[in-house]
Amino acid sequence: MSSRVTTATFRERKQSGEKIAVLTAYDYPSALLQEEAGVDAILVGDSLGMAIMGGEDTLSVTMDDMLHHTRMVSRAAQRAMVIADMPFLSYQITPEEALRNAGRFIAEAGAQAVKLEGPAERFGGAIELILRAGIPVMGHIGLTPQSVHQIGGYKVQGRDAASRERLKQEALGLQELGCFSIVLECIPADLAAEITASMQIPTIGIGAGAGCDGQVLVMHDMLGWGKARFTKTYADVRAAMLQAFKDYTEEVKSGAFPTEAHAYKLRQDREGAAPARSESPYASVSPRG
Ligand code: KIV
Repeated sequence: MSSRVTTATFRERKQSGEKIAVLTAYDYPSALLQEEAGVDAILVGDSLGMAIMGGEDTLSVTMDDMLHHTRMVSRAAQRAMVIADMPFLSYQITPEEALRNAGRFIAEAGAQAVKLEGPAERFGGAIELILRAGIPVMGHIGLTPQSVHQIGGYKVQGRDAASRERLKQEALGLQELGCFSIVLECIPADLAAEITASMQIPTIGIGAGAGCDGQVLVMHDMLGWGKARFTKTYADVRAAMLQAFKDYTEEVKSGAFPTEAHAYKLRQDREGAAPARSESPYASVSPRG
């Protein structure tokens, strides 16, 4: 295992130009595979609410939900930085509450950083307090899904001159506060490139073009569940799972599964003896492969 990706690594990557690969994960086996694949940071996103919990938005995700899933990811991630996404109402009420919640992700769930949505103008107090406690903060501007009702839907941001200027100022404001990186979500590629060029901290884009210092995708989007223009299906895992579930159902109904090869027999010599260690019935369950 090579050493952990840290905020210093993010700074170095900004200098060297080596891109930063971030993916979301919500469970141990997926995080283990991302770790093995060399992903730099794993974001336990509040996209959990949609990707895993089947919600229409991210607004019903709770601290308990996020802590539960962050723990699973932290158990798997040895090198990748684990970034926990602060859910709706975990940082908006008071800066003190924001710090308490951010601290729980570090102390109870093993994350190394937190992310929160919105500009310094609205959440500067919370960000400052979290940073003062020694917890790295990733900012997030552009399309901020926790404000979906205020924005009026999931829409590309920064399409007119005024909002372009606002986003540039927001990025600089978060940098000035001390954020170690900023997610730019669903903004025009030229604007994201302009913001990236003006910053000393790395930008991580999603639907923000190739000019960012790194990219993040929601894991399920890149595995066949995503339909948005900005995503890419790297493997149609959704289709593979669906086919497997169909084949299984059909084989159970037809009697084709299980066969003798999947069944246990009485032993000839020591009937009733416990199976030897190597014959554990759960031998293949471990997600470690
Ligand atoms: O919750 C999430 O997955 C996110 C990413 C889209 C950046 O915030």
